[in-house]
Amino acid sequence: MELRPDEERILNGEEGESRRKAMELLVALGKVYGAEDLIGISSAHLSGASYKTIGDGGLKYLSDQVGGGAKVSVPATLNPVGMDLCRWKEMHISEEFAVKQQKIVELYGKMGVMTTCSCTPYTGANVPRFGDHVAWAESSALSFVNSFIGARTNREGGPGALAAAIVGKTANYGLHLDDMRAPSVVIDADIDGSVFSYSLLGQAVGSTIGGRIPYFRGLPVNTGVEEAKALSAAMAAAGSVAMWHAENVTPEAGRHDISDLEKISIRKKELEEAYEKLNTADDVQLIALGCPHLTEKEIREIASMLKGKKKKQGSPEIWFCTSAATREKCAEDVRILEEFGPVLADTCMVVAPIEGTFSRTGTNSAKAGNYLPTLCSQSVMCKDIAKLMEAVY
Ligand code: F3S
Repeated sequence: MELRPDEERILNGEEGESRRKAMELLVALGKVYGAEDLIGISSAHLSGASYKTIGDGGLKYLSDQVGGGAKVSVPATLNPVGMDLCRWKEMHISEEFAVKQQKIVELYGKMGVMTTCSCTPYTGANVPRFGDHVAWAESSALSFVNSFIGARTNREGGPGALAAAIVGKTANYGLHLDDMRAPSVVIDADIDGSVFSYSLLGQAVGSTIGGRIPYFRGLPVNTGVEEAKALSAAMAAAGSVAMWHAENVTPEAGRHDISDLEKISIRKKELEEAYEKLNTADDVQLIALGCPHLTEKEIREIASMLKGKKKKQGSPEIWFCTSAATREKCAEDVRILEEFGPVLADTCMVVAPIEGTFSRTGTNSAKAGNYLPTLCSQSVMCKDIAKLMEAVY
């Protein structure tokens, strides 16, 4: 790999031990993936922030980083953590967990990371522009920014994204390069256009194509942020899709000749199969919405669905997961939601330790539907929001 003199200086430890270690990791990754050089990034988004997923080993790793003087050198945001940093008692979180979780967030803060704790930073705190090179480590968010915005990132891991944030560069390979962003399969999709139908589509496509880059035909032209985030999240979880194109929707779709590519149709039958696979529970104890985090528009829509209704006694607990910034922006609608359950920030149903309290969870997200059984030992009901709410009022 070719390093510039300033990069060699970092690798030689002339700018401190923490930058040396970060550079060492970037160079190692670059060698593994055949990168020719490093490329500057405009932002990073870091995962590996929930105490449930990183445990005491992760806490020690972060303490060592801070002890060694690690500081990010580009704007960097943080993924959801294991609890709402203020309202954790409403989530049945233990004091011990809360203390360790607070410590993790504090350590990220000491490194200069914005402790936004959301998987949708592209709705406010961290919005890349078309063509920006970034290092993002949340599978749904990185697919969203690659595809819907046209920024460029690989599917980074937590330590790789942190190293990139510290150095301000990442190894230049994969989706940073024009050729590697080309689609390799065409998906002819037939969906009803609801957000939930994008989630099912993502489930069907992700489990069929694995990690390839699909080019969608037939998606509604008004595919917006909510639809794109549902599709990105589901494909990243059911497969390992890090980028997609959609005719008349995504900015790079027109660049590619798709005439010779394999064609796959995803229609009613495939969507029904995806639905069947995701649904393993007939009733639930918790309904958790906001995977990825609810946007302002989604909060307003849920509020108008719930307005004037009363929560049935004995109905499931409900959590609405969003970012702190979004929660603040729609305070009026949040008040309506709060009559049914807490509007939680900083966290989600997958990275929170819900398995200590619940065993059957309802969600409208195929991504959560994939992870709740494996990471949280849950049986799952995966339906659109209106259907889930039938159990509630
Ligand atoms: Fe976000 Fe948690 Fe889903 S991090 S994408 S809400 S699994």
